[in-house]
Amino acid sequence: MIETYQARCQQRVNATLNQLFDTPRPELARLYQAMRYSVVDGGKRVRPLLVYGACEALDGDPAQANGAACAVELIHAYSLVHDDLPAMDDDDLRRGQPSTHKAFDEACAILAGDGLQSLAFEVLSDVRYTPQTAELRLQMVASLARAAGPAGMVGGQAIDLGSVGITLDQAALEIMHRHKTGALIEASVRLGALASGRADERALHALHTYAQAIGLAFQVQDDILDIESDTATLGKTQGKDQAHNKPTYPTLLGLDAAKVYARQLHDQALDALQPFAIAAEPLRELARYIVERRY
Ligand code: IPE
Ligand code: IPE
Ligand code: MG
Ligand code: MG
Ligand code: MG
Repeated sequence: MIETYQARCQQRVNATLNQLFDTPRPELARLYQAMRYSVVDGGKRVRPLLVYGACEALDGDPAQANGAACAVELIHAYSLVHDDLPAMDDDDLRRGQPSTHKAFDEACAILAGDGLQSLAFEVLSDVRYTPQTAELRLQMVASLARAAGPAGMVGGQAIDLGSVGITLDQAALEIMHRHKTGALIEASVRLGALASGRADERALHALHTYAQAIGLAFQVQDDILDIESDTATLGKTQGKDQAHNKPTYPTLLGLDAAKVYARQLHDQALDALQPFAIAAEPLRELARYIVERRY
């Protein structure tokens, strides 16, 4: 079921993403190529799936959520391009191919990341991709900006880089994860809900509780896979966290306790979805997928 849903959503978001990288002039060919390279092939598209899932949970039309789905994936792709840079995690492999700074060069990867970030907000604020009312569009732009910025993902990356070789306690680790990964996942769910045009405060609150739990679970599972999986399956270098002395849930709690914690977060996420009927089934499946995925 999740595979069919995932394929349908991937097709939907990829069709829109594909339209964004036509080079407007020859001088920009390399920059546009680098942006396309970083986005178009590969990636599980979990954040767009959450956008569509939240929209559908409120009986919205997923076709109305294409702009939001693209925007969250563009921010995510930019964060990966910069995360892999030598000054950050120094990773040469991403999504089964050379990282953007390896396929192009560092300066080009920095600019491609910058470009992807701007493009995310262009798409989200463009009525052709985001056909909601101007007020809803503005709410979406503000939510994504906050989640991507210093109070969200960028802040989390700063905490991450400042924590190398340091033993964080569980509360500090949670703050880091909630920023670097949770914030964008929470925004994906919120944007999807807003895109439905049917979100009231109660629904937004319940979906936020769901998103907080799976957002944290997502990074816990990422940390587990960094230990348990292998480079070919992951499409990125296995064992990087340990090599770089990053604090993670498995190093703090042990692998088994980290898995138990991921499962608890999954259960919390499902509890939050209780007010929703069958329409929230994709979100339930996604919660399971997030803690059971192998890459
Ligand atoms: C990896 O994200 C980076 C984290 C936030 C943990 P994903 O596992 O969603 O990466 P892709 O998009 O599938 O490559
Ligand atoms: C990355 O966390 C989070 C963001 C890119 C915001 P990681 O550094 O653990 O992601 P991977 O493992 O390189 O995908
Ligand atoms: Mg990192
Ligand atoms: Mg990394
Ligand atoms: Mg990781």
